[in-house]
Amino acid sequence: MIAPHGGRLIERIAGKKEKEDLLSLRGEYPEIEISRELAFEVENIAVGLFSPLEGFLGKEDFHSVLKRGRLASDIPWTIPIVLDVDKEKAQEIGEGLFLLYEGKPIAWMEVQEKFTYDKDEMAYSVYGTLSEEHPGVVKVKSMKDILVGGKITLLNHVSSPFPKYKLTPKETRVLFETKGWRRVVGFQTRNVPHLGHEYIQKTALTFVDGLFINPVIGKKKKGDFKDEVIIKAYEALFKYYYLPETATMAILQMEMRYAGPREAIHHAIIRKNYGCTHFIVGRDHAGVGNFYSPYAAQEIFDDYPDLGIIPLFFRSFFYCKKCGGVVNEKVCPHEEEHRISFSGTKIRALLMEGKIPPAELMRPEVAKVITEFNNPFV
Ligand code: ADX
Repeated sequence: MIAPHGGRLIERIAGKKEKEDLLSLRGEYPEIEISRELAFEVENIAVGLFSPLEGFLGKEDFHSVLKRGRLASDIPWTIPIVLDVDKEKAQEIGEGLFLLYEGKPIAWMEVQEKFTYDKDEMAYSVYGTLSEEHPGVVKVKSMKDILVGGKITLLNHVSSPFPKYKLTPKETRVLFETKGWRRVVGFQTRNVPHLGHEYIQKTALTFVDGLFINPVIGKKKKGDFKDEVIIKAYEALFKYYYLPETATMAILQMEMRYAGPREAIHHAIIRKNYGCTHFIVGRDHAGVGNFYSPYAAQEIFDDYPDLGIIPLFFRSFFYCKKCGGVVNEKVCPHEEEHRISFSGTKIRALLMEGKIPPAELMRPEVAKVITEFNNPFV
């Protein structure tokens, strides 16, 4: 089994006694209510998805991640995982604090330090732009002014609308072993599957033992598909077009950041922690608008020879009427006029009108599930 990122799978979940002891301290320490997105980050740290992180980044790691795309220890890490609080709250915070989600304590945090930061620097380092058209930039600009770093201990799990698909890295590692998969390819997605997605997955699967489809569930930008639509669409695809012996699915509760190249590295690290040995990166991975060139998210892997998971790169797939199948520029000799692209915008426009996209673009069983929703979009 592949080693977790940094060598050890982090687990920061309080046992029964520790939980009681920590909860008995309530009232003595400040408490802050955190967003759903932050609650997901807390849980992802606690179950080891963000190994080697044990908590929210301190100042040295934060600056190292922004400047070098690595933790101070030199371990690859591209997305700053931070807890922001306002100035008044920061003054109250001493050596510890409770994090609440929907009024319930979900974690205890040992505060290591509090520090100010430059939002423009953070946005530019992560997203490569300061444009307010980028949802990530808008989010950073709206963050509170002080960052608090320190280890967390999970007190309660965050509930999920899809509990049967929520697996910890400890569980996926057992699952892969039980299935006898030594080489597993991870697939990140925020979309319902079109034939291009399926083709990439199956091409990759041809060379390994198992396929791990891992849709991101959580906050997405307007116009993206709703979480339940993505899950239902994949269920249909699994039912008719996949083998349980070679493919499985679990969700990743995390917001999309649309950070393109940096997010591709982040996505790969998380899948490594799940136990994947390979990770798919196609065209404009985790991109938004035209902020990143189509293969920037592949090129960034050159800077990370020490990542410890093998990226599998794919050029853009399309349907070619002359080839009679899903192909890309590496294998299709025909002219542009014979090609139908897997344009998300085009598929979305058809679905919006309640029309079934052509079978060259999307499996009819998948399209049917999507059109059954009144409004499948966020
Ligand atoms: S993403 O934001 O999660 O990257 P999406 O769910 O559409 O968006 O893509 C999942 C993966 O499939 C990414 O690696 C992406 O690059 C790849 N991909 C999607 N469509 C294509 C395509 N037509 N050709 C090649 N790769 C693609």
